[in-house]
Amino acid sequence: MSIVHLPAICLKNVRRQYDDGAGNKKTALDIAELKIQPGELVAVIGPSGSGKSTLLQLVGGLDSPTAGSIDVAGLRISGMDEKQKTIFRRENVGFIFQAFHLVPSMTVVENAALSSIVAGQGGFHWRADALVLLDQLGLLEYADRFPDQLSGGQRQRVAVARALFGAPSVVLADEPTGSLDSGNRDIVLRLIRDAIGVGLRTSGLIVTHDPYAASYADRIIALRDGKIVGQLDLTLNGPPQEGESHHDERVRSWFAATSL
Ligand SMILES: Nc1ncnc2c1ncn2[C@@H]1O[C@H](COP(=O)(O)OP(=O)(O)OP(=O)(O)O)[C@@H](O)[C@H]1O
Ligand SMILES: [Mg+2]
Repeated sequence: MSIVHLPAICLKNVRRQYDDGAGNKKTALDIAELKIQPGELVAVIGPSGSGKSTLLQLVGGLDSPTAGSIDVAGLRISGMDEKQKTIFRRENVGFIFQAFHLVPSMTVVENAALSSIVAGQGGFHWRADALVLLDQLGLLEYADRFPDQLSGGQRQRVAVARALFGAPSVVLADEPTGSLDSGNRDIVLRLIRDAIGVGLRTSGLIVTHDPYAASYADRIIALRDGKIVGQLDLTLNGPPQEGESHHDERVRSWFAATSL
């Protein structure tokens, strides 16, 4: 008997349209098919306005498509009402937003463990796990400070800790390394990479303009005007070896050829 793996994320004939205010429909996203496998990390690239954030918001249940079906972690999320989507997000999604959306009245460690706190659990359940993540991100000494006492890059790493806390089914990251120096960029990318593929429980989408960040992915998709206009599979030659510069050069030349 063969085991069939359902894709972790599956979009079919998905369209997201907006009214442009003058009565015309503007298409922000138009994807015939996109399947992401369990354990797969996919980077999304494309010019400003090409639909990258729209794609993440649809997969993360923050927005609903105008047409088409979206399945995530075995759940049909297109067609869910707001209440169902809220539960879906809480139980399945780790989101790293372009603007980090930390809770200013909560400390760093509380922000990291937000999903447990919202679920009503006491510190006994979450503090140790959250501190482990903060330690990996070089933030242990800031655990009991508040977000407004941190630099932009430190806040971004708290947002990463929060997204990875509790091993979500999908990690959705919108420019997660935009505010980081190269050392912290590597730490964050490695943590996201390691969180995905653990027991094939997690998969991820990472939006980036940076070929180096994209080189951590298994596959890269290019969006333009809401459509997938190119794909690069980075698993064909096997995973990069320890100490190798990932698929950096290959990705850079593909970026250039795709004129991005
Ligand atoms: N709430 C909205 N109402 C109307 N149009 C919208 C809305 N949200 C997004 N759009 C439009 O949809 C298109 C895609 O936007 P999206 O935010 O997905 O782009 P993006 O690729 O993430 O860009 P960036 O790199 O600048 O973040 C854009 O043309 C944008 O103007
Ligand atoms: Mg965006």
